Amino acid sequence: MSDISTPFSRCILSFFRLVGGLLLVFHTAVVFSQPFNTGNSENGEILHKLNCESCHNSMFPNGDGSAIYDADFRKLKTASKLLAMVEFCAGNNDLPWFEEEIFDVTKFLNDKFYQFQ
Ligand code: HEC
Repeated sequence: MSDISTPFSRCILSFFRLVGGLLLVFHTAVVFSQPFNTGNSENGEILHKLNCESCHNSMFPNGDGSAIYDADFRKLKTASKLLAMVEFCAGNNDLPWFEEEIFDVTKFLNDKFYQFQ
């Protein structure tokens, strides 16, 4: 087994290369998938309509608060900042939300407006 180029050792080598490649792919997927991706976007939309929309709406002359999430208006640039802002706004408005509701609303906002990876 000292000769590295026997068919068997080449086979072993390509096996390890394959495993290494797969690990890299999984690693990348873990790094880029957000914790709130487990959230329920439909529930988030309802929660957002009930608790968040009216105040944002009142900030715009045309009454359309979703403009606050538009690419040319928004301040948030990353998914983790979006999650933090939802958490902050919910806390600031005395909403007794669990992580689940925070994730639902963050997922809704990200799916519909921000589309961070
Ligand atoms: C009482 C008014 C009010 C309520 C209620 C409110 N917000 Fe906000 N929200 C604001 C204001 C004002 C800003 C702008 C803050 C700034 O620009 O620094 C803002 C900004 C945001 C932003 C950042 C937009 C961006 O990308 O720049 C997000 C996200 C957000 N709110 C989410 C929510 C969510 C989710 C809720 C419901 C849980 C909520 N807000 C409820 C007033 C409110």
